[in-house]
Amino acid sequence: MYTSTDEAQSKLSKPVTTTSLRKMKAEGEKFITVALYDAPMAAMAQRCGVEVLLVGDSLGMTVLGYDSTIPVTMEQMIYHVEAVKRGNDKSLIMGDMPFMTYATPEQAMENATRIMQAGAHMVKIEGGEWLAPTVKMLGERGIPVCAHLGLTPQSVNKLGGFRVQGKTEAQAETILRDAVLLDEAGADLLVLECVPSDLAKRITEAVSMPVIGIGAGRETDAQVLVINDILGLTDKPPKFSKNFLVEAKDIPGALNKYAADVKARRFPADEHCFA
Ligand code: KIV
Repeated sequence: MYTSTDEAQSKLSKPVTTTSLRKMKAEGEKFITVALYDAPMAAMAQRCGVEVLLVGDSLGMTVLGYDSTIPVTMEQMIYHVEAVKRGNDKSLIMGDMPFMTYATPEQAMENATRIMQAGAHMVKIEGGEWLAPTVKMLGERGIPVCAHLGLTPQSVNKLGGFRVQGKTEAQAETILRDAVLLDEAGADLLVLECVPSDLAKRITEAVSMPVIGIGAGRETDAQVLVINDILGLTDKPPKFSKNFLVEAKDIPGALNKYAADVKARRFPADEHCFA
């Protein structure tokens, strides 16, 4: 066990659950999510009070050097979920399911089981209406699901690049409808990536599950950033990200600044949002 999660140093007094996140949504308190991949960062995130950790398949690009998330395997996800779990015993840990590991509900159940057994509390899957039966099946069997709509990086080849989604009224309506259907199917969280801020606001108000935004404006229930972006490690950082290390003296300082700015609604600023 990685032991630097000293109780006295942690801003999280008890484990974060789907129930506590829904309570935060109801009370209008923003929660913090960071995509990260290893035990020391997971421990630091716990000390800084980060409520949700995403072991994202972005690790294919941020850690492993691929040019998309498509090559990421179940074995790589499991390896990193186990590492993050060893560093943190309070934050809620979400594990991404890699490309084509949830193409059918049965395949999803088999692979989600492995991610949960590696230490995740929830799995994340990318896609709309077609995933509603999968969300229902996993939920009924005790596996919480985070849905992911808007820019879904595993579909980069179909989307024609890493582009803002939902810019036309028709696209916006489809994303909104997908969100409502996945909410009704029992999804526990929703990541909304790269959509106009007003669409993100409509979706956040329309669904009961908490919504985590990235490039989705200030009105979602929570924000997520990738640790590499927070620490200025990205070559060409996306418009929606911010290097918080510039205004801090060390890594915990950067994480604390990100968390404080999200809670106080200072981040994202207009320059990080899509109109
Ligand atoms: O894989 C990931 O890190 C993600 C976030 C960018 C939301 O899906």
